[in-house]
Amino acid sequence: MKDHYKFIGHFYDLLSNLYSGKSIKHCKVAMLDHLKPGDRVLFAGAGHGMDAVYAAQRGADVTVVDLSETMLNKFQQNLEKSGVNVTIRRVHCDILHVIEFEHYDMVVANFFLNVFEHEMMVKVLAHLIKLGKPKARIVVGDFSFPSGNLLSRLFKTLYWYLAVGFFWLFANNAFHNIYNYPETMRQLGLDVTEKKHFRLLLLNCYWSIMGQKAT
Ligand SMILES: C[S@@+](CC[C@H](N)C(=O)[O-])C[C@H]1O[C@@H](n2cnc3c(N)ncnc32)[C@H](O)[C@@H]1O
Repeated sequence: MKDHYKFIGHFYDLLSNLYSGKSIKHCKVAMLDHLKPGDRVLFAGAGHGMDAVYAAQRGADVTVVDLSETMLNKFQQNLEKSGVNVTIRRVHCDILHVIEFEHYDMVVANFFLNVFEHEMMVKVLAHLIKLGKPKARIVVGDFSFPSGNLLSRLFKTLYWYLAVGFFWLFANNAFHNIYNYPETMRQLGLDVTEKKHFRLLLLNCYWSIMGQKAT
């Protein structure tokens, strides 16, 4: 399988901190305080996975899945460097090949669904929902759907296109407009229970959204 993050995978977290002034970092752990010790949580497209380490430190039983070997190696290096003593299961595969249905208490998709074009994004999100147990929480952290006045919507849209253009060029991600995740989550049957916003230059550029499965 081709590793689209072979080059930028090495600097991914550094770039994201530079681009967002750490708002992305805060966004990625925003809903993890809901976890209880022993909860099973899956991080889809985990990347460097410091959010997954945070969940493991809270006593969760953590699995990370990523298609990129570079990203998973960086994840392991960061974990070793951090000196945190936790066990995390690493799975190197396409998320659609994970078939542990109704297994997880929480499934986290941080800055993951935006790599796909719309139809595929909906398919992947539906798959993530199937991996959750009845009543599981599904968390999506990403660029927020532009709202506010014209100037603020324009800034958020340009800010997004700068990022998506870069990742389209260097990681072969899909090139598309900002997705309205709460809308898609509701369409797929989730009850959207919580949203938290994260700011850059006083604008809500990122959000973490939590949805809950009914059954
Ligand atoms: C934009 S990065 C986000 C990484 C991380 N979640 C974060 O917030 O920093 C997207 C990640 O998804 C992974 N990925 C892309 N397509 C995938 C797939 N079909 N299955 C599993 N992982 C995938 C990439 O390798 C990459 O690590």
